[in-house]
Amino acid sequence: MKRHIKFGNDKFELYLSEKQILARIIKLAQKINKDYKDRVPIFIGILNGSFIFMSDLIRHIKIDCEVDFLKLSSYGDAKISSGHVTLLKDLNATIGGRDIIVVEDIVDSGLSIDFIKKLICLHKPKTFKIVSLLYKKDAVKINVKIDYIGFSIPNDFVIGYGLDYMQKVRNLPAIYKLVDKG
Ligand code: PRP
Repeated sequence: MKRHIKFGNDKFELYLSEKQILARIIKLAQKINKDYKDRVPIFIGILNGSFIFMSDLIRHIKIDCEVDFLKLSSYGDAKISSGHVTLLKDLNATIGGRDIIVVEDIVDSGLSIDFIKKLICLHKPKTFKIVSLLYKKDAVKINVKIDYIGFSIPNDFVIGYGLDYMQKVRNLPAIYKLVDKG
């Protein structure tokens, strides 16, 4: 695994390795398996960023469950949130009366997750919880309770493992942080 990568003139450094990410995901899945024993939750992934995290997490979930996706857009190609969230793909599943677990790759300002929580709660689920692989504790502007956090991280720009840089590099198997803006 590469320790440093360059993208244009921007330099990125390895931040979380594949091994570290997987070890943490297994722990999160074990906790969820225990908390949802004898229930059938619906995992709702937020596209695009969460698709890799969702696929790794779900393969360590041992209880019966369903999977669905929502697609939002707030950032476009910018590195910081535009502060505007729009819904691009709605849910297929009926979520009223169900146990819902929203799956996010990252909570940054909290705007997206706040929007999602309000949207889903309109449908009156039985329970509502959130799992996010990354949580930017110093960037959060709207406080929404995140029930399962993979890694609480500083306010660095991070890419890879589903997180994009101008829609690219989502396929990097590890997470890198920007260290030098060229
Ligand atoms: C990213 C990420 C979260 C959101 C977090 O999505 O996947 O959904 O931003 O930021 P926030 O807490 O400041 O709202 P983005 O809108 O970049 O789309 P993507 O998932 O397609 O990359």
